[in-house]
Amino acid sequence: MKPLLAHAELELLSADIARHLGLHFPPARWQTLENGLRAATKGLKFGDIHECVARFTSFPPTVELIESMAGFLTVGETYFFREARCFEMLQQQIIPDIIRKRHGGKQRLRIWSCGCATGEEPYSIAILLHTLRKELFNIDISILATDINPQALRKAREGIYSNWSFRTTPTSYQKTYFRETGDGRFELLPIIREMVSFASLNLSDECYSSLVAGNDTFDVIFCRNVLMYLTPELASQVVARFHRLLSTGGWLFVSPCESSNSLFSGYEPIAFPDAIFYRKYDGRNGAQQGIRNVSSLVHDESSKILKREDQSCRQVLTVSERATYRESSENSSLKQEQLESEALELLCRAHADEGRLADALYLSDRALASDKLSAGLHYLRAIILQEQGMNDEATASLKKALYLDQDLVLAHFTLATIEQRKGKFKTSLHYFHNALSLLDRYNRDDIIPESDGMSAVRLRNIIMATTAAISRGV
Ligand SMILES: C[S@@+](CC[C@H](N)C(=O)[O-])C[C@H]1O[C@@H](n2cnc3c(N)ncnc32)[C@H](O)[C@@H]1O
Repeated sequence: MKPLLAHAELELLSADIARHLGLHFPPARWQTLENGLRAATKGLKFGDIHECVARFTSFPPTVELIESMAGFLTVGETYFFREARCFEMLQQQIIPDIIRKRHGGKQRLRIWSCGCATGEEPYSIAILLHTLRKELFNIDISILATDINPQALRKAREGIYSNWSFRTTPTSYQKTYFRETGDGRFELLPIIREMVSFASLNLSDECYSSLVAGNDTFDVIFCRNVLMYLTPELASQVVARFHRLLSTGGWLFVSPCESSNSLFSGYEPIAFPDAIFYRKYDGRNGAQQGIRNVSSLVHDESSKILKREDQSCRQVLTVSERATYRESSENSSLKQEQLESEALELLCRAHADEGRLADALYLSDRALASDKLSAGLHYLRAIILQEQGMNDEATASLKKALYLDQDLVLAHFTLATIEQRKGKFKTSLHYFHNALSLLDRYNRDDIIPESDGMSAVRLRNIIMATTAAISRGV
């Protein structure tokens, strides 16, 4: 797409966005910024993109404009039980440990989900605490969830989700804590919804103190997949503020790709094989039972995680390592182009997972330039385009994927959902039926290619529910 904004405009704008929203848009991300502004211009009904920029930069923008812009410039990607290891640790180690230490003292548990987006994270915490209700019966529990984006908060309060939000959720949780709405969506039961209080909070504002009444500090703060979008200055201010708001020995959860030795200098890093958490230093040394201090892990395989500044780079390295091994052991003549395409594909997936769609699209194009015949890459490109609302382009990519591999079940499924959203139900049902026929070739627990871990039975159930709803006309 041809750029619409001059460098001078983008420079001014990114400085103002950093000031009011704390978001980091260096020149490498100006394309993403411009895409966000195009969407804001349309969504907020400005005459053109220059008016949108002028309104944000010429006057001090109103709180309403700042919050509305946040909806277009931030990434709201989230799902229930994302990075499952974190919830496992919370359930098995951290909550029991907090409760044990409090025994006889003030019996309360305060958790904050900061940057909660549409609510999947705080509700996952609430579900987990509900499963522990017998152990927690005499504990006063509070879960606060905040975000800058008012639209996301509205959706969070509503508590109704599509199947996509459950992509890695144990089915038993979905069955126990949600009821089907009849249009293929799922509504959270009030017993869980009422456990979470939502509030608006811009992390660039300095008034966090209202979140803490007296000495009622937080035991656990979740701030996952948020710091990576902030300017480095704001990220370190935010981490320092969290430190003041945490109880001694309290925990800060960030995403593994946000771990950094310098940013969390006031915290003790606690490493697990595939996750790292930060604890407000409590002045006492020594590892607790079941939780090992990082220093004791120096020679452990898992301590490699500490060296990871950027997950994407690590993934590329892994690919090169794998290829080097293959070359030496099998004397394979793996072409440089193939290797590059493989590495670009992994980087592309990492960016797409983090919601950096413009960057992901660029990487998918580069990967395809090296490997035009990969149906998986065309499918990946289609998913990115679909996330950006570019359904026609997504359809074209899906058809290319199917031309190369007509058995790619998820390509049929995705075409079906695009047609369904357009109201073209007959075509949609045709693609759904193709997907169902292909699913006959799988055992129920087989993982569907390109699906990030979805089993055949789960995809079949989703298709059956959706086609039934289409046939009923809902
Ligand atoms: C990718 S989502 C993370 C959701 C959830 N924590 C997770 O890991 O699944 C990032 C969220 O950070 C919020 N955010 C970005 N900048 C913010 C700011 N300055 N203040 C408050 N929230 C912000 C966005 O609105 C978005 O909902």
